[in-house]
Amino acid sequence: MDLSSKIQNVKFENLFLNASGIHCQTKEELDDLMNNSYSGGMVTKSATSNHRFGNPLPRYHSLPSGSINSMGLPNEGFDFYLDYVTRTEQKKPIILSVAGMSKEEDLELLHQIQDSDYQGLTELNLSCPNVIGKPQMAYDFQGSDIMLNEIFKFFKKPLGIKLPPYFDLVHFDKIASILNQYPLSHVNTINSIGNGMWVDIESEKVVLKPKGGFGGIGGAMALPTALANVRALRQRLNSSIDIIGTGGVTTGRDAFAHILCGANMVSIGTQVYEEGLGAFERITSELKEIMNSKGYHSLDDFRGKLKTIED
Ligand code: SIN
Repeated sequence: MDLSSKIQNVKFENLFLNASGIHCQTKEELDDLMNNSYSGGMVTKSATSNHRFGNPLPRYHSLPSGSINSMGLPNEGFDFYLDYVTRTEQKKPIILSVAGMSKEEDLELLHQIQDSDYQGLTELNLSCPNVIGKPQMAYDFQGSDIMLNEIFKFFKKPLGIKLPPYFDLVHFDKIASILNQYPLSHVNTINSIGNGMWVDIESEKVVLKPKGGFGGIGGAMALPTALANVRALRQRLNSSIDIIGTGGVTTGRDAFAHILCGANMVSIGTQVYEEGLGAFERITSELKEIMNSKGYHSLDDFRGKLKTIED
């Protein structure tokens, strides 16, 4: 059974990644991911120029069918992650994720990557919903276009972007028509569903401290939105732009659905946070079982081949 996949010319022995933010902030966590033989690649926590503690606690809460978080980009700072991706012996490919606090900071971080020895995949996170006072850039279509235009004037290495979920077919059309103008390596869809709310009935309180309780929704509840975004973008993006499907994967069936919708790779967030890295082994074996029962030998046998209901 071949579970290998590619983003551009980078080969992954297995399609599974951690979602950025999950077990990828510290050296110890990154090393754990590097040594886990059931994930084919890994993504770093989105880096800002400087170390950030992130939002005040509590900032993550498990829900009956997923999670709500408002982490606020806690990370060790860009230099730490650039050092990690350039110096660590790579048993699997790493995607370096960056998320500036402003357009200027995004451009500065990408300049530093362009000028560095790093040759791997970079991902620009335009979709974190949890930084107080900072909107999700990829909901500003014109602003995203202007920014990508500036970026690709100087950035010549493989670059993907992390997108927020879209909910309207017109918005899928709009974002795809912008992204198709640029030589993106990939899009990663979706980030958490921004600014949800959970209420604890006993205490009559919200469950997160930051932002008065608003936070990004992930886990099983996010699966239908994630599948829709993978599918809608695969139908609209140039075939040269690969897709990482993120959101709501708790079983091999969910991963299978992401691939049917067109995902090249699948990343897992809440479930890895809740279950630990063992989730990769379990979900891999569940996916293999489904593929086996259907007589599929590789992901190409069914990737993007979702059927619709015809008369
Ligand atoms: C966070 O750090 O708040 C989550 C990461 C993200 O949404 O991009």
